[in-house]
Amino acid sequence: MPEFQSPLVPVVVIDDATAAGPLADALVEGGLPIVEVTLRTAAGLEAIRRLSGREDIQVGAGTVLSVAELDQAVAAGAQFIVSPGTSPALLDRAAELGVWAIPGAVTASEVLQVLERGLNQIKFFPAAAAGGPPVIKALSGPFSAARFIPTGGIGPANLAEYLNLPSVAAVGGSWMVPRQAIAARDFGAIRGLVGEAAALAAQIRQGKEQ
Ligand code: 3PG
Repeated sequence: MPEFQSPLVPVVVIDDATAAGPLADALVEGGLPIVEVTLRTAAGLEAIRRLSGREDIQVGAGTVLSVAELDQAVAAGAQFIVSPGTSPALLDRAAELGVWAIPGAVTASEVLQVLERGLNQIKFFPAAAAGGPPVIKALSGPFSAARFIPTGGIGPANLAEYLNLPSVAAVGGSWMVPRQAIAARDFGAIRGLVGEAAALAAQIRQGKEQ
């Protein structure tokens, strides 16, 4: 499976696809050249379409709940597919298309279901509500191949608890891309938040490597 270009995956809810370009600029300039555009809004697919030609940012689709949505996201140019959960239908289709897939799992049985398919990147969602770092640590014992992307309830205050775990590939979150700021087209503020988040993640990862 491909790797993330960044230790953080900004999770975006976009209400107007014309904001996608300047939003991507803010992410690249701030130092997080990756985006998970959720299909929670009607503008999500069009935003992916608009960003799909760019080579300076990895563009994926999030909140993919059905095979139809998976197909639409791939057709729109999504490079990776994220789902909050795991289902045989989604896993079958992802395998059929050979697409980079990151299914959601928080229990041992769900993690096993993903690993059985030869996938090892797992969205651990909703991270905080599902028990947070202790649960990821516990699952990493039996499932040493699993690489988790915890998302949901993570922010600057608790980022290190997650990012310091060796089995965490990257952390997802929306704190650096607030929906209201995107809707208000306040890309300067977003670039600032992205820069702060990128700097914090780099500091945490460097600390870990020392
Ligand atoms: C997601 O879809 O990954 C989450 O809703 C993002 O969670 P957060 O808003 O708590 O960061």
